[in-house]
Amino acid sequence: MMAPEHSLLMELLDAGNRHNPYPLYARLREQPVPMQGRDGVVVGDYDTCARLMRDTRLGTDRSLVEGETTGRDRLRPPTFLSMNPPDHTRLRGLVSKAFTPKRVAALAPNIQVVVDKLLTRALVKPEFDFAGEIAYTLPLTIISDMLGVPHEDMPKLESWSRAFTMVLDPVVTFRRADDSQLRSIRDARDEFANYFAQKIAERRADPQDDLITRLVQIEERGDTLSELEVMTTCGLLLVAGHETTASLTSNALLALLRHPDQFEALRRDPSLIEGAVEETLRWDPPVQITARTVNEPARIAGHDLPPRAVVLILLAAANRDPAHFERPDDFDITRERVPHLAFAAGIHFCLGAPLARLEAALLLRVFAERVEQPRLIDVEYRSHVNVRGPKRLIIGHSGAN
Ligand code: HEM
Repeated sequence: MMAPEHSLLMELLDAGNRHNPYPLYARLREQPVPMQGRDGVVVGDYDTCARLMRDTRLGTDRSLVEGETTGRDRLRPPTFLSMNPPDHTRLRGLVSKAFTPKRVAALAPNIQVVVDKLLTRALVKPEFDFAGEIAYTLPLTIISDMLGVPHEDMPKLESWSRAFTMVLDPVVTFRRADDSQLRSIRDARDEFANYFAQKIAERRADPQDDLITRLVQIEERGDTLSELEVMTTCGLLLVAGHETTASLTSNALLALLRHPDQFEALRRDPSLIEGAVEETLRWDPPVQITARTVNEPARIAGHDLPPRAVVLILLAAANRDPAHFERPDDFDITRERVPHLAFAAGIHFCLGAPLARLEAALLLRVFAERVEQPRLIDVEYRSHVNVRGPKRLIIGHSGAN
């Protein structure tokens, strides 16, 4: 017989629940749920999630999270997302120089140009797919421009990013990915490595004003990034910022269309944009779950866990914890700001958070200004459990400015 908590976990992985996993999260938040079939525990209340992401007895060795599926053949070489100090500290420290608030703010004019172009193209039609035509394309274009990758190569980057995002899904932790999924992840890994090895060699020979060149040239107190480190960092930036930011803008638009009074308030008062972005991050976060691994035998959330056990942290459940947020299930863009966990917490706090916020705010502002009487026609979710957002989001409208 399967324990009732375990069947709750299985329900969470069921693609049929993608349209609304929140009632399930509410039940999983009540108490930590032990995993069956492997050592681990699932936590969902705000305080435990926030505390465990700062707990030094836990690390982020994702090869363990991915391990069951992949055996000894690692699907991807590790990025600093899945490293522990001191390696994490060193790499993040070197890369974060390229993500200072000043550098991110300087991207606004280019983001604005891309937003205008994408919307103008979509608005020619009375109906368009906001997710497919705008939300996915915007962050991909911006990260390609930052890296210095030509636009004609974007379809390749997009397919690699989709394959890599699969690796992050806890479905892969619980169930075996099928052979065709594994093959496409491995192919993406190899093609990506060949492509970026060539780009890195080109930049060493002929430096440009772009992120690949900056990563190649980074040097601090004699420390530099190796070629593999530059490559895995480019992969991390591509994957971490693509489907996540796309989901943020689609989730925000969907929430606003389903709460017309709030959309109207936003139109009247554009200063509410930042509130709308933050409330979407809290209420329907793009990254729903993250994971930590146990470094040494430890009692975690009331369970004795051995080294290599996995702790799944339900960020989306924590963000609606009634012990922490008033009226947690209400979408309210005017709510007083209380820190949410959409970008995680502790040493792995999202490095790209300012960029994601800027892209989402600019896109929503221009959408609210330009699109007349937008209405929701259809929405279809991607099957991912972890990165949650629409695959298709069909919007109708009555005209454009
Ligand atoms: C880490 C969410 C956009 C780069 C993370 C983590 C979360 C997250 C939850 C931490 C995972 C953990 O602790 O296990 C998001 C969301 C985004 C977004 C919801 C969009 C709305 C971006 C963008 C970039 C980016 C645009 C860069 C282009 C990174 C990097 C890390 C990270 C490099 C690893 C940080 C570390 O390990 O120190 N992100 N992210 N993210 N994110 Fe984001």
